[in-house]
Amino acid sequence: MRRITDRKCNCKKMNMKSEKYEQLVSQIRSLIEGETDAVAVMSNVAAAIHHTMGFWWTGFYRVVSDELLLGPFQGPVACMHIPFGKGVCGTAWKMAETVIVPDVEQFPGHIACSSESKSEIVVPVFGSDKTVVAVLDIDSEKLNTFDETDRKYLEEICKLVKLNVGNYCSMPLLK
Ligand code: SME
Repeated sequence: MRRITDRKCNCKKMNMKSEKYEQLVSQIRSLIEGETDAVAVMSNVAAAIHHTMGFWWTGFYRVVSDELLLGPFQGPVACMHIPFGKGVCGTAWKMAETVIVPDVEQFPGHIACSSESKSEIVVPVFGSDKTVVAVLDIDSEKLNTFDETDRKYLEEICKLVKLNVGNYCSMPLLK
C-alpha cells in the first residue's frame, strides 16, 4: 500500500516537472526567436532555466580553442577553465553526449566549484557542423536531482540554442 502511494507521489512530481519544462521550452523558444547574439541568447536561456526550475547553478561553458571557458550563468562564481575530458563538463564534451551525475562525489575527476553542489547534469550544444560548441551545465544542491525528464527537455533546449550560437569564436577576448 505504501509503495503504491509513493509511486503515485513520484508520478505527480514527474508530471509537474514535465509541465514546468513544457512551459519553459515554449518561453525559451519565443525569447530567442530571431536572436543571433550568442551572449544574449545564452544569458537569457540560463536565467530562464535557473529561475523556472530552481536549480543551484545553471550556465554555459563554451569551447574555446582546446578548453571549455565559462560563459553566461546564474548562481555563485564558478571555475573559468575546464580541459577537454576533465570533470563532468569536459567528459560531456569528449563523449558528445549528456552526462547525468546522481552524486558528484562518486564521479571520478569531478571538478568541485562549490561544496554545495551534490548532483549535476551536463548537456552538449552542437554547432551546425555537428561538433560540440558549448555545454549547458546544471548543478543541484540535492542528490539525485536529474533524470530522463531533465535530459529530454534540456536536450530540446540545447537544440534550440544551437541555431543561435554560431558566432562565439568571433567574440573579442580580453587582453
Ligand atoms: N562540476 C563541473 C565544473 C563546473 S561547475 O559545476 C559550475 C565539472 O565537474 O565539470
